[in-house]
Amino acid sequence: MHGAPLEAWRDALQDLGLMGLIRTPAPPAAAAAPPAAGGAAVRPARLAAPYAAPADPAACPPEPAVAAAASLADLERAIQGCLRCPLGPGRIRFVFGEGDPAARLMFVGEGPGRDEDLQGRPFVGKAGELLERMLGAIGLAREQVYIANVVKCRPPDNRTPAPEEARACLGYLRRQIELVQPAVLVTLGATPLRELLGIGEGITRARGQWRQLEVAGTRIPVMPTFHPAYVLRQYTPEVRRAVWEDLKAAKAWADQAGRA
Ligand code: URA
Repeated sequence: MHGAPLEAWRDALQDLGLMGLIRTPAPPAAAAAPPAAGGAAVRPARLAAPYAAPADPAACPPEPAVAAAASLADLERAIQGCLRCPLGPGRIRFVFGEGDPAARLMFVGEGPGRDEDLQGRPFVGKAGELLERMLGAIGLAREQVYIANVVKCRPPDNRTPAPEEARACLGYLRRQIELVQPAVLVTLGATPLRELLGIGEGITRARGQWRQLEVAGTRIPVMPTFHPAYVLRQYTPEVRRAVWEDLKAAKAWADQAGRA
């Protein structure tokens, strides 16, 4: 039996204060394995719907087509009809990503929200406005960086993508990173850090600490920082300063890598 319905049921019981009356179901074996390059596997903050097999396997781009894409435009063409996971049939627009295809700084968020789903562009809502202001604070315009997400289709109610959904999309993001070849990746919030690097520790602890991601034999420095949506919710001088410090460090590294 799949774990998600059981977990949803358990959480509902917990909400009702009835948890002590039942035994906690054991996690499914697969959930025990780390998702990627080490680190603890963790569940998303909000429960995802139970995972279902792809609705239309014929509309799932085969791995060789993803690997063979020689440019971002090729890749977008190859994957824009994707129905690999249950998010595909629910989308209005596929949100591939955008920006300078040779950017030295690449930003990775979680997944499209409502505005992004409507427009087919990443970070165009309130969080996007703040991201642009954050970029402005380090002297960059949106067009000078590349912006993508872990998942390309909007999760219902803007929930955190389920691990299976993130995994179905991860090869696309990794190929995007290979094609852009940024000097530095900035991960926004806990989800890209968990799904790309397998780091499940809280973003408050992880932010500001350099990590590395290996993509096609190249090690890319990664700077984790807070997600702009979190900054909007916690609009304190401390949080804003933390993000500013993280972005300054990321830009300084990208600048000096560009001169090397
Ligand atoms: N939040 C994200 O993580 N990505 C977007 O594109 C928009 C909001």
